[in-house]
Amino acid sequence: MTSSSSHQFYPLTIRQARKETREAIVLTLEIPEQWRELFAWQPGQHLTFRRMVTGEAGQKEEIRRSYSICSAPSKKDLSVLIKRIPGGQFSEPAQQFQAGDVVEAMPPTGHFVLQPAENRHYVGMAAGSGITPILGMLQAVLEQTEHSHFTLLYGNATTDSILFLEKLADLKDQYPHRLSVLHAISREPVDIPVLSGRIDSDKIRRLHAAEFAHTRPSGYYLCGPGSMIEDLSTTLKALGVPAADIHHEQFLSEGQEITPQQKTVYQDAGVTVTVDGVTHRFDIKKGEEKTLLEAAEAAGVVLPYSCKAGVCATCRCKLKSGRVDLVNNYCLEPWELETGYILSCQAVPRSEKIVISYDE
Ligand code: FES
Repeated sequence: MTSSSSHQFYPLTIRQARKETREAIVLTLEIPEQWRELFAWQPGQHLTFRRMVTGEAGQKEEIRRSYSICSAPSKKDLSVLIKRIPGGQFSEPAQQFQAGDVVEAMPPTGHFVLQPAENRHYVGMAAGSGITPILGMLQAVLEQTEHSHFTLLYGNATTDSILFLEKLADLKDQYPHRLSVLHAISREPVDIPVLSGRIDSDKIRRLHAAEFAHTRPSGYYLCGPGSMIEDLSTTLKALGVPAADIHHEQFLSEGQEITPQQKTVYQDAGVTVTVDGVTHRFDIKKGEEKTLLEAAEAAGVVLPYSCKAGVCATCRCKLKSGRVDLVNNYCLEPWELETGYILSCQAVPRSEKIVISYDE
């Protein structure tokens, strides 16, 4: 490799592979000194891995999957949690990974991040493996500030399925006055009625009245299924929380497929794209069914991506000129759309000239 880029893949050795539950493994990766800056991360970001698999017709194909970072940024080693999805092309074999194995990963990306400030109250709401980025955030708040407080509301079906149960208990012991952890359990009886059942709008209203209304948290960080995020965001806004204080990340596997009709191009388009300081040009013809990312791939232009579903923001870039339709967007916030950011995996050209940049 001649030069370092945040859009390339790097071979990383697994220092430790630890089963968190029967269905999830935590991989701790060794970051060599020369890549430390490149792999520095902000709490809440994720890593994209790639792996070659054999397709249905016997052909080799590359798959990419993103997993949130769960370690605190103060740690030298970077850890991710990978939960098994039945039939998952990455998550299933990953359960067998061992120390010494080498994986290929792109440097951390994602803008679901929390930059801790002093004397604040932050609230995290997570369901299942949605805890992973929130765990990175809450550790950052506890380690990097002296007085800020973090409240975690964490939903699971049963106590057995709670991820990082011990880690959360240890942190609670270490920071008894600055960390509150509320476990909501949906399929087992619990002693506190408000914590029985899924995290839903009724629960949020009751907790808001009891816990949050007087402390006025400066940020709410939500991670879980799309329906939960929609429900909670709507409720928080109705309770008077400014939209700018509500941040969310949907489960990374959850985007909707784009239909051929949605990505049909209506006129010839010339696309100019800058990535890592290099500018490329390619064309898309009228009638083709291609997003900007797919058209770039077909032209041999390598652009960053992971989910291809509008969820992870790895393909986020700035539209400098021209028009596109953004088919799905589960991650960009209103300010990003207003300032011209798009997702190339969801963008279909709608003008003759398009100029985009990954470098801004
Ligand atoms: S590749 Fe994930 S949003 Fe585009």
